[in-house]
Amino acid sequence: MKIKLLIFGITGDLSTRKLLPAITRIVQTDDFKDIEIIGVSRREVDMSAVSTDVTNLTERTRVFSMDLANASDYLRLKDYIALKDDEQLLVYLSVPPSAATQIVDFLGEASLNDANVKLLFEKPFGVDLVSATEVIERSARYFSESQIYRIDHYLAKEMAQNIAAFRAGNALFSQTWSGKFIESIEIVAFEKIGIEGRAQFYEQTGALRDFVQGHLMQLLAIVLMDIPTGLDWNSLPEKRLKALKALNSANPEDAFRAQYQGYQDEVKNPGSPTETFASVVLSSSDSRWSNVRLRLATGKAMQDKKTEIRIHYRKSHEAQSNCLIFKIQPNEGIEVDLFTKKPGYDKEFETQKLQYSYGIDSVLPDAYEQVLVDAIRSNKSLFTSSKEVLESWRILAQVQYAWSMDNSKLALYRQGSSIDAVICD
Ligand code: BG6
Repeated sequence: MKIKLLIFGITGDLSTRKLLPAITRIVQTDDFKDIEIIGVSRREVDMSAVSTDVTNLTERTRVFSMDLANASDYLRLKDYIALKDDEQLLVYLSVPPSAATQIVDFLGEASLNDANVKLLFEKPFGVDLVSATEVIERSARYFSESQIYRIDHYLAKEMAQNIAAFRAGNALFSQTWSGKFIESIEIVAFEKIGIEGRAQFYEQTGALRDFVQGHLMQLLAIVLMDIPTGLDWNSLPEKRLKALKALNSANPEDAFRAQYQGYQDEVKNPGSPTETFASVVLSSSDSRWSNVRLRLATGKAMQDKKTEIRIHYRKSHEAQSNCLIFKIQPNEGIEVDLFTKKPGYDKEFETQKLQYSYGIDSVLPDAYEQVLVDAIRSNKSLFTSSKEVLESWRILAQVQYAWSMDNSKLALYRQGSSIDAVICD
């Protein structure tokens, strides 16, 4: 089936950094040769943006210039695309959320919403529970939920996908996957980079919205969800939703936020209250997890780039080792701490690591390749449903409210800090 990929924001940061390189790799495979790209832009597009060292898409790309706020231009766009019944159109909205909502309305009004049209949205999906509800209701006027693909690229990372497989396929772990054996779960996502010039975006977002609401909450849901029988991937969104529904609202008393030094100069906003580090502690009402401490933390300008899920098992005595780690990135793999006897005459002990990781040379598909391929194949297991989005906002609502009312608790940390340094600073 021929695929037409309509990209709004083709010259934007996300498109040039992630999307176009991903398309370049996909079209090199036999299954997806027949992809045509239509870039939509307000101005003339410099084609060097779509054809760089890593992207070579000039031959299959056309650009349509239009006024994004003019309804009649969408009718012209429809004629230009000339979608046939045996083709599918993927509309990739690589634009700020407010622009995306408007574009969706215009597309619907121009009847560019047949069943063979799919919408791919980038986060953030709203900025809180109220706005997310509005955005979701608005897009539902013209598009059914089955046509909407909300991207959370962390779900599509190879190791994130591996968690479900690991849990389903390893009896040792699947049978001990509950609060009876697990004491706490910690999910951290740290980045070495700061906000990389995205001042406007980040000032409206902050770490809680940028990472905790989506990426970290989704990873937590994969860890807590019931594993579907036979690992039926299609039922994952429903299983994740059930896990999210069982999470209690985060208590502001257990939440922490901080900002890296120099951030306010970078965004040219002295006194900015935006957090670049956020952590929350959660609990679940599901009896399987009700006694387990769940902690999510993220920060920019940290010592290292690292995303990990740490499962701490209960110990029956202090000396026992107890940690299982999913290394989402970098050095993707799984690690288990083991208590062992240190070789030698003395009866000494040490902790060793049982480790599995992808070979240094193995090339893992980028998450953006995976989401595009899955969207083309109408496989929704790695996309966030509207109900999941709303649940995540519901869980964080009290923290958002408390933080918006009181900026006095914003700590500062040095760029390049470790998590312990941030929380103690
Ligand atoms: C995005 C965030 O969703 O993920 C960015 O908006 C962040 O702030 C990025 O830098 C990190 O993605 P990755 O795949 O490089 O870990």
